[in-house]
Amino acid sequence: MSGTGNLAGTACVVTGSTRGIGLAIASALAHRDADVVVSARTDGDVRRVAGELAALGSGRAAGIGCDVRHPEECRRLIDSAADRFGRLDVLVNNAGWGRFAPIDELSVEHWREQIDTNLGGVFYCSRAAVPHLTAGGGGWIINIGSLAGRHAFAGGTGYNASKFGLLGMTEAMMLDLRHRDIRVSLIMPGSVNTGFRGQSAVHDWKLDPRDVARAVVDLLAYPGRALPSRIELRPSRPTRR
Ligand SMILES: NC(=O)c1ccc[n+]([C@@H]2O[C@H](COP(=O)([O-])OP(=O)(O)OC[C@H]3O[C@@H](n4cnc5c(N)ncnc54)[C@H](OP(=O)(O)O)[C@@H]3O)[C@@H](O)[C@H]2O)c1
Repeated sequence: MSGTGNLAGTACVVTGSTRGIGLAIASALAHRDADVVVSARTDGDVRRVAGELAALGSGRAAGIGCDVRHPEECRRLIDSAADRFGRLDVLVNNAGWGRFAPIDELSVEHWREQIDTNLGGVFYCSRAAVPHLTAGGGGWIINIGSLAGRHAFAGGTGYNASKFGLLGMTEAMMLDLRHRDIRVSLIMPGSVNTGFRGQSAVHDWKLDPRDVARAVVDLLAYPGRALPSRIELRPSRPTRR
């Protein structure tokens, strides 16, 4: 997995990978001949994208549905992936969801959905993955955070809480797992052109999902002695406020 950039024989799971950043990450891994499991809640999308990825490289692609808010679904996703490929090397915790409103307008349901997806999902999937990564002699857990995990904004009560929490959680996981040769990293992108937040317009100043995918691929090329534990990825020229 280290050094060459080719990922043949590397078994990867990417959560929330049917569109946006997760799709770009899964595609980049498949292009480099990795074995990739595509996952999200919508089964039709999962099947379609897995079929598309199978044509990209020489690795295998599989689709497994999973709502990361549910621990038992996360365990099934990870165990099935390891079973399918005979090993697990890389977990990318990408699935995320945001609802933006002032605290007094944010419903309890939307609060829970953000915390359960953006924090709970990472915990459940990572916890299920550690035994498989350990059995294979190590691996990598890459969490997709956000600059919203360091900079709060009005309307971000739930989203900021989840991404600030993810920053602390990722660092604690890194300290727990580094001596088992499991590296843990957090990628914190700024604004990316995806359908997140119900956005349909594309802005040319924003990051492209492929920029985040590149950070994932670059991480995996580092030699085993090196651990870039946090990457802040900003648009070079955001609109001035
Ligand atoms: N876009 C940005 O500007 C930006 C910036 C910084 C960080 N991020 C982070 O990057 C990640 C991806 O964002 P994105 O913009 O690519 O989002 P997106 O375009 O909305 O795609 C989200 C993906 O996650 C899946 N998903 C949503 N909820 C899920 C759940 N409970 N369980 C499993 N899968 C779920 C979706 O499929 P289903 O709906 O079918 O499940 C979809 O595949 C998130 O963690 C987000 O917080 C985004």
